[in-house]
Amino acid sequence: MKVLVTDPIADAGLGRLREAGHEVVTDYDVEGDALLEAVSDANALVVRSGTEVNEAVFEAAPNLVIVGRAGIGVDNIDIDAATDHGVVVANAPEGNVRAASEHTVAMAFAAARSIPQAHARLKGGEWAKGDYLGTELNGKTLGIVGLGRVGQEVAKRLDGLGMDLVAYDPYISQERADRLGAELVEFEDCLERADFLTVHTPLTPETEDLISTEELELMGDGYLVNCARGGVVDEDALAAAVEDGTLDGAAIDVFADEPVSPDNPLLSVEDVVVTPHLGASTSAAQENVATSIADQIDAAFNEEPVMNA
Ligand code: NAD
Ligand code: MLT
Repeated sequence: MKVLVTDPIADAGLGRLREAGHEVVTDYDVEGDALLEAVSDANALVVRSGTEVNEAVFEAAPNLVIVGRAGIGVDNIDIDAATDHGVVVANAPEGNVRAASEHTVAMAFAAARSIPQAHARLKGGEWAKGDYLGTELNGKTLGIVGLGRVGQEVAKRLDGLGMDLVAYDPYISQERADRLGAELVEFEDCLERADFLTVHTPLTPETEDLISTEELELMGDGYLVNCARGGVVDEDALAAAVEDGTLDGAAIDVFADEPVSPDNPLLSVEDVVVTPHLGASTSAAQENVATSIADQIDAAFNEEPVMNA
């Protein structure tokens, strides 16, 4: 069977597919018509967040059995089109959760202590000690929007650092929040009470631009961290809110359009810390998700149950 891989995944996953006897073709720069050509004889397609798997891709791939997403978010895959074409979509919902939650904590600290800004100035030869007066996380309130796998791991870590937890998630039980020591509250309440607000929802029609000017004004001050999906936070509104001092700062790992364009408004605001979608970029996480997807593809080829379809 031919497996086309269009976003980089760990060698462990590629090796596992080859060991199972499949032909593995990696083509990480392919897009547009070249993607349609490359996928035309593929039996499986493996992506991360970089490849847009739309209706045209399914149309062009009559032999496709499964699309494997080596990670969590499937917002770059047209699930309805996959269903119409009888193609299974599988993701790896567990393997990068720890990595994403650790990155979220790192981003909260980076914003609260201006670490990237101070680092850049010191590397440039400037001893700017007097210019930075940070904020402690201890004793502050963490607002969590979306208390799923990543949100829960963030809650545990920041609870351990002495933060008070409030959470907004209309789809979880009070018991789940109680177990984490988080108070489950309404959305506005979560925004108003948070000193740090961290977003951990999927990108869906319901969550698109969930946080925009009005919501940032409700926060009043404090920091926003987004290591979930770019489209959940309105980038123009966030850039303006940090620029005009409505918010103290923000830390952003994900963008509405990736790779991000140099004129994205968030890149030019001093108190917005940014990383290029690195939440899942640890060797352990990448190995986990790549081998999980390899196993699921092999299962699909063997007409066995696909665990995370
Ligand atoms: P999950 O499905 O386990 O949890 C998502 C939670 O969001 C659920 O509890 C759900 O009830 C909640 N939710 C859905 N709609 C909501 C709404 N309108 N308001 C509030 N809550 C809502 O997902 P996860 O594994 O925790 O992943 C969370 C996000 O992080 C996803 O967008 C995922 O793609 C992203 N992610 C990013 C990286 C990265 O590299 N930056 C890595 C891993 C995951
Ligand atoms: C995910 O949803 O798992 C993230 O986008 C991680 C990634 O693949 O970079």
